[in-house]
Amino acid sequence: MEKIVVNGGIPLRGEVEIGGAKNAVLALLSATILAKDTCRIDNIPNISDVSIMLHILHQLGANVRRVGKNAVEINTRYFNSGEVPHELTKHFRASYYLLGALFGRFGHARVAMPGGCDFGVRPIDQHIRGFELLGATVTFEENAIISMRTEQVTGGPVYFDVVSVGATINVMLAAVRARGVTIIENAAKEPHVVDLANFLNSMGADIRGAGTDIIKIHGVNDLHGCEYTTIPDQIEAGTYMVAAAATHGEVFVRNVIPKHMESITAKLLECGVMVKEYDDSIFVAAPNRLQRCKIKTMPHPGFPTDMQPQFAALLAAADGTSIISEGIFENRFRYMEQLTHMGADIKVDGKVAIVEGVRFLRGAPVKAYDLRAGAAMVIAGLSAQGVTELTDIDYIDRGYEDIVGKLIPLGADIRRQSISDIRTNVSNIS
Ligand code: EPZ
Repeated sequence: MEKIVVNGGIPLRGEVEIGGAKNAVLALLSATILAKDTCRIDNIPNISDVSIMLHILHQLGANVRRVGKNAVEINTRYFNSGEVPHELTKHFRASYYLLGALFGRFGHARVAMPGGCDFGVRPIDQHIRGFELLGATVTFEENAIISMRTEQVTGGPVYFDVVSVGATINVMLAAVRARGVTIIENAAKEPHVVDLANFLNSMGADIRGAGTDIIKIHGVNDLHGCEYTTIPDQIEAGTYMVAAAATHGEVFVRNVIPKHMESITAKLLECGVMVKEYDDSIFVAAPNRLQRCKIKTMPHPGFPTDMQPQFAALLAAADGTSIISEGIFENRFRYMEQLTHMGADIKVDGKVAIVEGVRFLRGAPVKAYDLRAGAAMVIAGLSAQGVTELTDIDYIDRGYEDIVGKLIPLGADIRRQSISDIRTNVSNIS
C-alpha cells in the first residue's frame, strides 16, 4: 500500500508529456478480438486498467507481446471462447467492451457485469438494447453474468435514449462484422469514439460518421490486423493544464490535440488563465488569483464530466462563487467532502455544487474516492499551503501513468511513500 505526500504552494514550471488515451485504448484492445491477425498499437499508456485488459485477453487465448513501455502487439486468432471469467471483469468498467467484441466475432458472449468508479447507478440498458436490436437474445444469469447469443449478428437501426460513450462503442464493436447495415442515432461524439472508428477502419471496417450523432456501419466479413497509434489522452492533458493553473505556474503540455481540449481551454480562459495553443502542445500560465466560473458537464463537445473534480479543486481557491452542475452522472460529488477537509467551502444540492472560493487550501490527510477525484486531490495538494497525504491512490494508477514522476520535473515537492501497517507499528510498542 502506498500514499502520495505533497508539500504544496510551489508553482509548476516546465514541460510534461501526455500519454495515450485510456478510454480509447481500452476500446481498441477489445477491438483486436475482431481481427484475424496481429494488431500493433502504439502510444498506449502504462496504467493498471490497460494491464488488466491485456491480462484478460491473454487469459482468453490471445498472444500478447509488449513492445517497449508504450506499445503492444496482439493476435487473437486462437481465441477459443466467448466467455470471460467473473474474477477478471469485476475490477473495471471497460470489461463490458468484451461483450460487444466477443458477440461481434462469435455471435455469443458471456461476461460479468462491469465494475468501475462509483458515481451512483451506472446502468447498461442502452448496451443491452443495442445488442438486442442486432439480433441478440440476452439473459441475466446468477453472479451478475450477462449471456447473449444469436444465429447471425444482423445490422439494423439503433437509437439511444441516452448519449452513452460505452453503449456507442459496444454497438460499434458488435456491428462491424454483422450482416447488413447498422445506423446508430444519438451516438456519443467523444474523441475516443472517433479513435475506435479509425482503428476499426484501418482493420478493413466500413464505419462513417463517427464524431457526429449518426454513425453508419456497413458490416464486413472479416477484419485484418493493422498498425495504429492511439490519440493523446484529453483528460490527462486537462488534468495537467488545471494543475498548472491551480499552482499559478507556467507549463507546456506536450503531445495533445488542441481541438480535443476546446471546452477545457475555454473554461480556463474564463477563470483568467493564459492559454496558448500550438500544433501538438498547449502552454498554460496563471496569475496569482483566478476568477470564478460556471461549469455544466455534458457529452462531447460539452465540458467533460471527467474534468469536473479537477476544476472543483481549482475553483475552491479562486475568487468568487462558482457553480458546478453534473449533467452526466447521478452522484459524482462525493469527493468534495475531502476538499472541505482542506478548507474548501462547498455546498452540494443534488447535482449542483456551489463553491465559495477561499484564499487558499490547507494541506490535510485525504483519500481518493475514484480515479478523477484522486487526480483532483493531487491538484488540491499541489496548490495548498502545507502537506497533504493522499491514500487509496490505486485509483489514480488506473488512469494516470506515473503522475508523481511527471510532476517532480515540474518542480512539485511530491513523492510516493509506503504505508506501513499501523497494526505492525502498534505491536512494536512495548
Ligand atoms: C465512459 O463511461 C468513461 N469510461 C467514463 O470515464 C466517462 O466518465 C463516461 O464515459 C462519460 O464520458 C470509459 O470509457 C471506460 P456513459 P461510460 O455510458 O461509458 C447513462 C474515467 O474517469 N447510461 O457515457 O460508463 C450513465 O448512467 C471514466 O475515465 C445509461 O443510462 O459512460 C450516465 O449517466 C469515469 N444507460 C450517462 O449515461 C446505459 O446503458 C453517460 O454514461 C449507459 C449509460
